[in-house]
Amino acid sequence: MSSITSTSLDELVLPSILDVLEQDSVLNDKLHAICSLLHDKVEYFDWVGFYIADKNVENQLLLGPYVGEPTDHTVIPYGKGICGQVAVSKETFISQDVKAESNYISCSIHVQSEIVVPILKDGEFVAQIDIDSNTKNAITAEHKNLLEKICTLLAIHF
Ligand code: SME
Repeated sequence: MSSITSTSLDELVLPSILDVLEQDSVLNDKLHAICSLLHDKVEYFDWVGFYIADKNVENQLLLGPYVGEPTDHTVIPYGKGICGQVAVSKETFISQDVKAESNYISCSIHVQSEIVVPILKDGEFVAQIDIDSNTKNAITAEHKNLLEKICTLLAIHF
């Protein structure tokens, strides 16, 4: 009997993420490296970026490092779109079909599904990972699990 071993997404991505976090680099460089890793290693992740809580203006997100097409949405008020909703709810949001969302900000006509995962520091919302896919129904439980682990690891860096 032959045995088939498959590499899990965690095994594929987490060691490199840990390497990035251990590097002696500024936070923005770490975040950009994480965007590149996720974009390059995970199928269906077509745009990967961070939105960060604005330290100067209350209830406002600012676009941080990202990999993918440039977006006009560099500032997003809390509550607006999927990103703004996650800043308020502090919970992961998955949309398998963004066209079905009533509170959604479109960054590109190509995007079909999206996941946003909050980064919480001592229970406070500080930032989020936002991932867009050009494929409908692309977001899996394995993606959610991986991204939530990454966000937990990132919290102490904010
Ligand atoms: N679609 C997001 C906006 C950010 S872009 O996807 C880069 C939203 O609805 O909040």
